[in-house]
Amino acid sequence: MVDKGSLVADIGSDHGYVSIELIDRNIASKCFAVENKIGPYTTLVANCLSHGNIITSLSDGLTQVPSEFKTVIIAGMGFETIKNILLDSKDKLDYIEEFIIDSHTLTHELRAFLNELNYSIIDEKCIIEKSIFYEIIKFKKDNSTKLSQEDLKFGPLLRKEKNDDYKLHYENEIKKLESLLKIENINEERRKEINEELELIKRNI
Ligand SMILES: C[S@@+](CC[C@H](N)C(=O)[O-])C[C@H]1O[C@@H](n2cnc3c(N)ncnc32)[C@H](O)[C@@H]1O
Repeated sequence: MVDKGSLVADIGSDHGYVSIELIDRNIASKCFAVENKIGPYTTLVANCLSHGNIITSLSDGLTQVPSEFKTVIIAGMGFETIKNILLDSKDKLDYIEEFIIDSHTLTHELRAFLNELNYSIIDEKCIIEKSIFYEIIKFKKDNSTKLSQEDLKFGPLLRKEKNDDYKLHYENEIKKLESLLKIENINEERRKEINEELELIKRNI
């Protein structure tokens, strides 16, 4: 999802594998790998030593990212952490052209939040790995797209593409909801909510 020749800031770099792959595969021309904890940062520095063009930074979120890094990757965190990273550095949004985000929670809220900040979705991928469903979303600065509630929940591009992992994930969600409906003492209000959720998923699968 990274355009060739991009200058990429990798926030929450941990071991640095994302930046290392981007450099080794000649995708990014330079990476700025950020980690805010000393343990992972030490590993990051050691791992990146033999790979050129990766600057490592022991710092918080976007705070130290130079303005030339116009593509930002934030992968492997929950939405609340991602949201705080962006809110803590709103001035940096003036120069960040693209975000590629793999949020492990609340992707519905993530799409809405980035949309409010005037970023539109230009690419989305989803995959099931070790039974966990991941959505990876690429946003570009552009305020032209408005998303429906169904776009926010399922992803505007994912719900069009409906790849095998997308179908499998939502088939599993349907099974979970149908088994909830079989619980006898479930109250009527909850039953109604579950039925609405089921209809919504069935419309988008
Ligand atoms: C689960 S790892 C994900 C590693 C890598 N991005 C990946 O997807 O494989 C999340 C990393 O983000 C770091 N992190 C969390 N909040 C951060 C922040 N505000 N600034 C920089 N790093 C942060 C954590 O210390 C941790 O190493």
